Amino acid sequence: MIVITGASDGLGKEVAKLYKEAGKKVVNISRRACEHADVNICLSLREGAEIESAAKQVLEIEEPLEALINCIGVYSDQKFGAIEEDEIKRLMSTNVKAPTMLASLLIDRIKQDEADVLNVLSTAATKGKASEPLYVASKWAARGATLSLQDELRKKKSRVISFCPGGMRTNFFETAGAQNDTTSFMDPSEVALALKQTLDLPKNMEVSEIIINRK
Ligand SMILES: NC(=O)c1ccc[n+]([C@@H]2O[C@H](COP(=O)([O-])OP(=O)(O)OC[C@H]3O[C@@H](n4cnc5c(N)ncnc54)[C@H](OP(=O)(O)O)[C@@H]3O)[C@@H](O)[C@H]2O)c1
Repeated sequence: MIVITGASDGLGKEVAKLYKEAGKKVVNISRRACEHADVNICLSLREGAEIESAAKQVLEIEEPLEALINCIGVYSDQKFGAIEEDEIKRLMSTNVKAPTMLASLLIDRIKQDEADVLNVLSTAATKGKASEPLYVASKWAARGATLSLQDELRKKKSRVISFCPGGMRTNFFETAGAQNDTTSFMDPSEVALALKQTLDLPKNMEVSEIIINRK
């Protein structure tokens, strides 16, 4: 099975579609359901108790875990001078706590099944941006956790991939009430293809980090 967080929309939904078409059992974890998923675990992954519940439900599924793909993410365009504590909590709990705690709760199963973990970060995890400091901070933190998981699994067959795309044409910005013009952004179905191709490489090839800049 392929477990995807945030498969109800955007990139995650396109990734779920590709795996469904490839005949895989797809498990979605997000608040809304995904039409391509065989199993929908509809929870908000912002709270530790819900992350624990999601992990428990995944562990109850007997099929081997092939990959955990974290597409979950939220955006913020709050800038210095207007940063609110609740917004920091929202960004850090969704973008950092959820994928990190989920991987921690599933670590024995990941090792046992030699599962791969791919965390969708962002090019924002590689630079500083005055236009979105909280988003950048959360993605740097998530990248730190991802590279640490890579080290944890260095001697195992599991691969850990830090996947950093640039702007994609999804509802991501609108959902956050931001005004970003996405007309020239990448098509999420094409980014999903790149993501799956990265995981489809032979098991002894780990693309440890991939940065996909938008042209
Ligand atoms: N769009 C871009 O330009 C862009 C660029 C670089 C990187 N990224 C990253 O790519 C990933 C996918 O983004 P996207 O553009 O596809 O955004 P999207 O269309 O807004 O999808 C985000 C997904 O995250 C899920 N999610 C959000 N909060 C959640 C919560 N509390 N609990 C569980 N699931 C939650 C949403 O599901 P529910 O609402 O159903 O819970 C949704 O399925 C994110 O990690 C984002 O940071 C995006």
